[in-house]
Amino acid sequence: MVVVMDVKCRGIAMTLLFFLGFSAIFPLCFSDVNLPSLTHKLLPLISKNRIGSSVVFPVQGNVYPLGYYSVSLNIGNPPKAYDLDVDSGSDLTWVQCNAPCKGCTKPPSQQYRPNKNLVPCGDQLCGGVQSSPSHHCQSPNDQCDYEVEYADHGSSMGVLVRDVIPLRLTNGSVLGPRLAFGCGYDQTYSGPTSPPSAGVLGLGNGKSGLLSQLTSMGLIRNVVGHCLSGRGGGFLFFGDHLVPSSGVSWTPILPGSSVKHYVSGPADLLFNAKPTSVKGLQVIFDSGSSYTYFNSNAYQAILNTIVGDLKGKQLSGATTDHSLPVCWKGTKPFKSLRDVANLFKPLTLSFTRTKNVQLQLPPSSYLILTKYGNVCLGILNGSGAGLGNLNIIGDISLQDKMVIYDNEKRQIGWTPANCDRHPK
Ligand SMILES: *[C@@H]1O[C@H](CO)[C@@H](O)[C@H](O)[C@H]1NC(C)=O
Ligand SMILES: *[C@@H]1O[C@H](CO)[C@@H](O)[C@H](O)[C@H]1NC(C)=O
Repeated sequence: MVVVMDVKCRGIAMTLLFFLGFSAIFPLCFSDVNLPSLTHKLLPLISKNRIGSSVVFPVQGNVYPLGYYSVSLNIGNPPKAYDLDVDSGSDLTWVQCNAPCKGCTKPPSQQYRPNKNLVPCGDQLCGGVQSSPSHHCQSPNDQCDYEVEYADHGSSMGVLVRDVIPLRLTNGSVLGPRLAFGCGYDQTYSGPTSPPSAGVLGLGNGKSGLLSQLTSMGLIRNVVGHCLSGRGGGFLFFGDHLVPSSGVSWTPILPGSSVKHYVSGPADLLFNAKPTSVKGLQVIFDSGSSYTYFNSNAYQAILNTIVGDLKGKQLSGATTDHSLPVCWKGTKPFKSLRDVANLFKPLTLSFTRTKNVQLQLPPSSYLILTKYGNVCLGILNGSGAGLGNLNIIGDISLQDKMVIYDNEKRQIGWTPANCDRHPK
């Protein structure tokens, strides 16, 4: 889910300043070549090889029929588990909160209850959710309000709190860092159904996010990744332990882009390895989106290309199947996406700033098989969904790959993977 607005002040100038400010500061702070003196003072004992750990979480969920992937995050002492939507399109982690709550989908017993642990407005982490602390804090001891509005999925409003989050590291240690996250007491949902999760696990690198906090505590390197299985489930990791040393296609994160999500490009679209009219796309890698969205022009071109290529094949429009806007049926119901593997051609996103870096999208990365035995196009019209000109690579196209967001080297990588095999 991509954040369109996450400051209390809706002024455009403020939002711009805010984004520019952070994207300029972050690469400096966490580059491994040049640790600035401030970081040295805060973390005097950390040398490169001591930050060698990672945290791994099992992931539940699927693209269809559920439409989301989630992890269970323990919070508090004694710990309580919360199912959170895995979202590389935003940075703030928040849980439904009994403060009391408006727009919570979980009963009060399953909501987080703050206990004199509000993050004060003067805390520097609060700057990650507010455009300008001085603008919003009457006094530095005020609570730190946040508001996130997702481009595709409603909003959450609440306060930042800080609590113990028990984590098992891959080196065997169990730690309980106190981390800040959002306590969301006012949610809205824009979809037809409200999400069943208890909140959002933001994987973006903004400074109020968990990734940035774990990194600045020196517990992990500033790397996060996921492996979402096409058969459902998978795993997620913070830190760089699981990143393969070879075989990963890397493309730079777009310079100057927001630290709250991961944008790359420009990328050209190929159909069956041949160029199409769709060129120069900037794309957001967004695990918080079930499907892939392209802007109106690109969408129209892709649809025309696919439909044109199906002419003369044993497929017809399945107009009564409303699972997604465009569906096809065969002469008899399909049992598996393998049944259509020969009817649909592969798509490829070719990243032009780096030679030979391609994101392969076989039919299983852009089609779903519905409960009626039809197949539907999992690439949707972003303009029609209120996303404007954004292009979003969602779960359907990220499945069965390990996808890595490396904020130290400012690059995004992927490699084919069996995401059913969880690392120990
Ligand atoms: C594991 O890594 C963490 C963070 O880097 C460190 O604090 C801890 O001492 C390490 N534990 C072991 C057993 O090496
Ligand atoms: C995509 O959505 C836009 C905005 O609603 C609309 O104008 C356009 O016709 C749609 N394109 C297709 C191919 O449906």
